[in-house]
Amino acid sequence: MKITSICCIGAGYVGGPTMAIIAQKCPHIKVTVVDLNVERIAAWNDKDVTNIPIYEPGLSDLVAEARGRNLFFSTDVEKAIDEAQMIFISVNTPTKTYGLGKGMAADLKYIELCARQIASVAKDNKIVVEKSTLPVRTAEAIKNILDNTGNGVQFQILSNPEFLAEGTAVQDLLFPDRVLIGGNLEGEREALDSLVEIYANWVPKERILTTNLWSSELSKLTANAFLAQRVSSINAMSELCEKTGADVNELSRAIGMDSRIGPKFLKASVGFGGSCFQKDILNLVYIAKSYGLNEVADYWEQVVIMNDHQKRRFASTIVQTLYNTVSGKKIAFLGWAFKKDTNDTRESAAINVCDYLLHEQAHIAVYDPQVKEKKVFNDLQYLDSRSLEEIEKGITVFEDPYEACKDAHAIAILTEWDEFKAYDWEKIYDNMQKPAFVFDGRNVLDAKKMVSLGFVYSAIGSTN
Ligand code: UDX
Ligand code: ADP
Repeated sequence: MKITSICCIGAGYVGGPTMAIIAQKCPHIKVTVVDLNVERIAAWNDKDVTNIPIYEPGLSDLVAEARGRNLFFSTDVEKAIDEAQMIFISVNTPTKTYGLGKGMAADLKYIELCARQIASVAKDNKIVVEKSTLPVRTAEAIKNILDNTGNGVQFQILSNPEFLAEGTAVQDLLFPDRVLIGGNLEGEREALDSLVEIYANWVPKERILTTNLWSSELSKLTANAFLAQRVSSINAMSELCEKTGADVNELSRAIGMDSRIGPKFLKASVGFGGSCFQKDILNLVYIAKSYGLNEVADYWEQVVIMNDHQKRRFASTIVQTLYNTVSGKKIAFLGWAFKKDTNDTRESAAINVCDYLLHEQAHIAVYDPQVKEKKVFNDLQYLDSRSLEEIEKGITVFEDPYEACKDAHAIAILTEWDEFKAYDWEKIYDNMQKPAFVFDGRNVLDAKKMVSLGFVYSAIGSTN
């Protein structure tokens, strides 16, 4: 079937960039991205394209090119469903915060709502594509809802997980390592082929992999679990390096040159964040437990336990180094996003480190080139149900990094933004309390230079 009209439910960090690329590469397809969030859609439609709700290098140019031509953003979900031949579901699947599976399982309520809405609106056959990361066998539940509540039309379900990483989303979408499409290979061949055809507009055919539905759903969880495991593995070694005089950067280089291990994803850090790693591993743990596979569950859970340890360890090192108290001291945070080149802060290590230091009565001064004050405050309210008043007492968000660092007792680097390397560190040193401490949670600064300027500098995984 030749597809000329698609829609995507969910205009988030996955739905927005993915649909912008499809629109750019397939001018013959009308692409409509819908969301219930009126503010978010208004931002996607903002005349000034730099105001789109997601900061992602290269994305605003793409949107500027396709928006109004064959890319549309709207809150009219029903109209978009009605008009589309193919519907991508790209809504959030957070960890459940209540009831059965609380703190572990993925909450599928938004997925279910989408399925019910598609079923009630659709008056002709539709291809429904799972874009969100979902527990294995979710397609079965979606199919059940569609078939049992629909208007007698046919639904074909595909799984097409997205592997883009934030900060490099545009490049990842333009040149993916692979595109994965899962379908019921007997019944859904035609639907599968039509999705392959869309990607074939820019992705070489040999990189478009088709599998059965369950392999596709489980591959996405597995890929994220393996990536997170690498970060926890190198972070575990970083602690041992600090005790033994080994240097974790040298360790990464040495093991990464083994072609079986490879050099990527071996950067020790204050801990991984982002909307996927923790959520997906906990979900995997829950699924394994639900099949009675306790050893499998325990194995993967350790990746998250290690990550929590790394974040706590970073925060407690700050307190211990500052003579066991940070009460009333100003600690400047450079970076709040969970990684560079994004304004996303979900599960960012900065949130937990800040929370720890607030309990120790520190005053936190935050600077992040892309994260606004409102988001910082929301993150902390959400974590600890603190009142806004309490947060405002403990945290100040700055728009100038030099102001954030002025009179600080210590600086903590939480995100690896490139601009941090180019700062005038001598000027920063001169304006700080002495001794001037720097805790580099991303190993981005030059240790020798920092020490020669007079800083007491500590990095992750080395003793300098
Ligand atoms: C991840 C997966 O990479 C992507 O394929 C999937 O689609 C979504 O989840 P994302 O969370 O956007 O992408 O970013 P990623 O680059 O994977 O980084 C995740 C976290 O790990 C960040 O906090 C990052 O700083 C941290 N990290 C990554 C490290 O600490 N060290 C590393 O070597 C790599
Ligand atoms: P991701 O990072 O996976 O893209 P986000 O949380 O950034 O996730 O985006 C998911 C989006 O899906 C949110 O903007 C949310 O408002 C939207 N959403 C959730 N449920 C629905 C629904 N039933 N209809 C339309 N949009 C929805």
